[in-house]
Amino acid sequence: MFHKIICGDILEELKKTESGSVDLIFADPPYWMRTDGVLKRVEGTNYRGCDDAWDNFDSLESYEEFTRSWLKECYRVLKKDGSFWVIGGMQCIYTVGAIMQQLGFWIINDVIWHKKNPTPNFLGTRLNNSHETLIWATKGRKSRYTFHYKTAKELNVDTVDAENYAHGVRKQLGSVWRIPVCQGSERLKDEAGNKLHSTQKPEELLLRIIAISSSIGDVVLDPFGGTMTTAVAAKKLGRSSVMIEIDPLYCEMGQKRVDAAEFEDTPIARADFDRKPERVTMSEMIAAGSFAAGEDFFLKDGSKKATLLEDGRLYFEGEARDMHTCAALARGVQASRLNGFDVWYVLREGNLVPISAVREEYRNSKRK
Ligand SMILES: C[S@@+](CC[C@H](N)C(=O)[O-])C[C@H]1O[C@@H](n2cnc3c(N)ncnc32)[C@H](O)[C@@H]1O
Repeated sequence: MFHKIICGDILEELKKTESGSVDLIFADPPYWMRTDGVLKRVEGTNYRGCDDAWDNFDSLESYEEFTRSWLKECYRVLKKDGSFWVIGGMQCIYTVGAIMQQLGFWIINDVIWHKKNPTPNFLGTRLNNSHETLIWATKGRKSRYTFHYKTAKELNVDTVDAENYAHGVRKQLGSVWRIPVCQGSERLKDEAGNKLHSTQKPEELLLRIIAISSSIGDVVLDPFGGTMTTAVAAKKLGRSSVMIEIDPLYCEMGQKRVDAAEFEDTPIARADFDRKPERVTMSEMIAAGSFAAGEDFFLKDGSKKATLLEDGRLYFEGEARDMHTCAALARGVQASRLNGFDVWYVLREGNLVPISAVREEYRNSKRK
């Protein structure tokens, strides 16, 4: 694994990067916020929004030209099956998204990052701006991009309440993510104790993106590194990173942050949930003694008995058939087959247990 911070201008530095060399790009470009004057909190103190020099552009044309140039380079350096993520507010995301499509990017999802603790609209003149938009795209419609679907489910605490989640309830991860803005000890401070960077992103957001759309050992590129949040998340998840950032102070402070981060070898990092389980056959499990030829198979409520034959088929209603066909017949559904492992139960120590649990036990015994 390597973690490289390049201190320089994206337009020059990206040109030096080899074509088709990175697996995942996360870009958090200048938003061109166009903030005007000093924002006051309700109690009268000044609020520091994003009025940095790097966020200033003369006109829509110059913002578009800049956006087109860096997006073009990102398209070039991304692997053919890589993923591209970009984040932006209402000020820029429509421009970025339109240019992406002109360049050939294929949009997979747009994701709303719903901020749990947004900056208030101090003047009360419009809605409180409580989200940003992420676009997830590939180089083309046919790209075979990485998506760890079950790992994403595992990370879904947005639509499953804590108690259900603790009891193993998992739901498909949706496109609204509820994550707080970067705060507390995570937020880098300058010598005066003020926030070092006006738009530092929360680590949780990057951990989620990198975990679901890349794998251990992949190379992640962030062309607008800032405080190096992307590199920190990449390192924790066992991915390599290349960061570009124009401001030497951010590079220096970000480097310290990356150095302090460590790889955390977790099932999420390894995407264990998405590993295909080893295929095992019924005859193999009979031979190993997990099931016995001649034993009875039941539906969950104890009804509809079938008998297991030596060759792994079931004898049901006067005929020997594969257990999936028997499952459909026993359930009385229109489909000709159901997954027998979801349907059949066997008696173990006086209790009915799903045959999938017996299979899992057998798999585990093989791993030992
Ligand atoms: C929106 S911030 C990224 C914040 C970052 N995601 C984080 O969590 O800290 C954009 C960053 O891009 C940098 N930047 C702006 N223009 C750049 C350019 N032409 N080349 C390289 N970096 C640039 C700015 O200095 C700023 O730190």
